[in-house]
Amino acid sequence: MEVDILITNIGQLLPMDKKGPVKGADMGELTVWNDAAVGIKGEQVVWIGSSKEAKILKASQTIDANGKLVTPGLVEPHTHLVFGGSREEEMALKQQGVPYLDILKQGGGILSTVTATQEASQEDLLEKALFHLDRMAMHGITTVEAKSGYGLNHETELKQLRVAKEAGKQHPIDIVSTFLGAHAIPTNYKEEPEAFLDYMSELFDVIKQENLAEFIDIFTETGVFSVVQSRRYLLKAKEKGFGLKIHADEIDPLGGTELAVELGAISGDHLAVTSDEGIQKLANSNTIGVILPGTSFYLGKDDYARAREMIDAGAAIAISTDFNPGSSVTENLQLIMSIAALKLKMSPEEIWHAVTINAAHAIGRGGEAGMIAIGKKADIVLWDAPNYKYIPYHYGVNHTNTVIKSGEIIYE
Ligand code: NIG
Ligand code: FE
Repeated sequence: MEVDILITNIGQLLPMDKKGPVKGADMGELTVWNDAAVGIKGEQVVWIGSSKEAKILKASQTIDANGKLVTPGLVEPHTHLVFGGSREEEMALKQQGVPYLDILKQGGGILSTVTATQEASQEDLLEKALFHLDRMAMHGITTVEAKSGYGLNHETELKQLRVAKEAGKQHPIDIVSTFLGAHAIPTNYKEEPEAFLDYMSELFDVIKQENLAEFIDIFTETGVFSVVQSRRYLLKAKEKGFGLKIHADEIDPLGGTELAVELGAISGDHLAVTSDEGIQKLANSNTIGVILPGTSFYLGKDDYARAREMIDAGAAIAISTDFNPGSSVTENLQLIMSIAALKLKMSPEEIWHAVTINAAHAIGRGGEAGMIAIGKKADIVLWDAPNYKYIPYHYGVNHTNTVIKSGEIIYE
């Protein structure tokens, strides 16, 4: 058999090729193949076997993994990729202890990024998004979910979604788009959240027609949208055929997790202060819990999602950076893997499921991304690490050696 790229001498290969999502105790069971090799032709994986068997293959290019770790490209299931400006000035407010939601109430926070995004040109937003995508690729990410939500008017929300679509065309990383028009209440709708949600839902048809987003998301939070308002808005989205996501129980336990389960959302995200009942409901549902521990860390909170209880109750968990200019400013999902180990008490086996197969299921890419299997896209990372436990252990730096996306080396 002829292949374009042959990766040989793999010390540990994580295929992650289970029928997912992987739930509860199964998240702790990781399949590891030793002394493996992978053959790639075109965009796909066409062969997997032992290094010894690989000698029968004819390869245009051979990469020696030097006995190290090889995994699927990481899947990042929750980012706010497209935005104007930055918010380093907020750091001092945070240090003084001004709460995140108070900054927002005063017209800062998300609303200051809204102004910057409204003012930015499509070209500038695209250039910035591509820059952040390069950073993500460098850190081993090959599929990214990207939300709008810094427009809060028709024109700018569409601008963000179009930028995300164009970025997906120009960058090798695959982008999955989510419409988060319900991210905050703009000042001109301050007293009328329902009217604002109606106004945002007017975009559902054009978003469908132009294929600008697969999912509709909402920030269900004190001072933003209530559970009742969120339910009404999301039901409309569901009727139009969108998948649903919720920024749920990030700061106050309003019951966004329970709502995500009730509506059959593909994911409930954040879950930092989810109630006992919410945890049970999540565990008994098909909704994936997307936990963003970098946000708890960056906002200086003591509330971390109770991942242990969620997994022990049987839930499927993914983790993510929540990359955005306010509550979690990092493209480094490896750092989040360390925070998940230290603060969520997730095992390395659970963490690897959470950044590959389960993350893919959380964005509608189950069975496509987040696995190494014959006939699937060759999204593969070679790590400068002796084994899978090493990545969460050695924290804060980038461990990638070579990143392959759809059969092309995009970083080395
Ligand atoms: O997921 N919580 C709402 N949205 C983002 C933060 C957005 C921002 O601060 O700009 C989040 O944490
Ligand atoms: Fe978010």
